[in-house]
Amino acid sequence: MSTQTRVASYQARNFDYLLGAPGFSDELLKNHFTLYQGYVKNTNNLSERLMNMVSAGNAGTPEFSELKRHFGWEWDGMRLHEYYFEGMSRNGAELEDDSSLGNKIAEDFESYENWEKDFKATGKIRGVGWAALYFDPRTNRLINAWINEHDTGHLAGCNLLLIMDVFEHAFMHDYGLNRADYIEAFFKTIDWNVVLERFPRE
Ligand SMILES: [Fe+2]
Repeated sequence: MSTQTRVASYQARNFDYLLGAPGFSDELLKNHFTLYQGYVKNTNNLSERLMNMVSAGNAGTPEFSELKRHFGWEWDGMRLHEYYFEGMSRNGAELEDDSSLGNKIAEDFESYENWEKDFKATGKIRGVGWAALYFDPRTNRLINAWINEHDTGHLAGCNLLLIMDVFEHAFMHDYGLNRADYIEAFFKTIDWNVVLERFPRE
């Protein structure tokens, strides 16, 4: 079997339908899509190199260790961008207060407003990374968390419901250092119908 067919390739998804979203220039979005495609390419590249090293008897070498360690960074960069773009639509879709997730947010954070304050404050943490809304099926609880870069701070065993990119590439082209205005624009694009679908039904 050739090395080309041994490792299944991840395919980059097309998010061009987001072009024209208010608050996001086409140039920013196109650059962001290109960055995302790079993560997909690197994930495929690393998968193949690691498999080839195993076949060649080079597993366990320092190079193997470093590539294996790096794999999660590229893979998370790929997958988090997919959750991010998929959770957006050009004009967004509101969260219904009486939906299962609307009720759960109000229950766990006392109000939607409290949840939003917490999520936005998480997104304003200095540094590059992501703000994430998770659902923990084990304790039936929603949690807002900070993911540093792509790979540090994930809550093990929790389901990712909503993710907001706060790397500078996500906003600097349009907003300079004004991350707060980007966050407001992002909130107008959140497609809560998609987020709701990620929320496990009882
Ligand atoms: Fe990004």
